[in-house]
Amino acid sequence: MKTITLAFTGASGLPYGMRLLECLLASGQRVHLVYSQAAQIVAKQELDFTLQDWYAPMASGSNPGDAMVVCPCTMGTLGKIAGGVSDDLIARAADVMLKEKRTLILVPREMPFSAIHLENMLRLSHAGAVIMPPNPGFYHHPQSVQDLVDFVVARVLDHLGVEQSLMKKWGE
Ligand SMILES: Cc1cc2nc3c(=O)[nH]c(=O)nc-3n(C[C@H](O)[C@H](O)[C@H](O)COP(=O)(O)O)c2cc1C
Repeated sequence: MKTITLAFTGASGLPYGMRLLECLLASGQRVHLVYSQAAQIVAKQELDFTLQDWYAPMASGSNPGDAMVVCPCTMGTLGKIAGGVSDDLIARAADVMLKEKRTLILVPREMPFSAIHLENMLRLSHAGAVIMPPNPGFYHHPQSVQDLVDFVVARVLDHLGVEQSLMKKWGE
């Protein structure tokens, strides 16, 4: 069992995050879920838990867990992480993952990307983060929006090293 921090931020694409949460829990992983205020606004739905505070485990380098995924990730949060600005729990937890050399996956959603967004992503990639924009492939002949969501979530699960049966790997 892995301990994974999953963060929702206020970008479009919450279905990816929700599906990822569902799959991680179904596969028996321990998940720390955090979300920004903007995520609540964009989601426009009630989530039956309270926001984590600064004493949450992932805020400390002594207890970082195995991996963190920000899905979906806004350009704002991306910029904060790239700049080392740890002024909220999500940015701080991501900063901890980078400094402790743990897996940090970002699922950035914006279109188009500005040069600033792209430079931030390059900087994060150099720092060890995995940048996984939600760009589903079409070679598996998706029949529904859910198929497209599952394509993206399957790739994230693969990178986390979590077994998944959403999508076969190419050639299987
Ligand atoms: C309906 C809606 C959709 C949004 N979609 C995106 C998006 O896809 N990508 C993005 O970077 N920001 C998007 N935003 C803007 C962010 O929510 C905003 O920049 C917010 O301050 C980000 O805060 P956070 O990173 O703490 O969640 C959207 C806002 C709204 C209201």
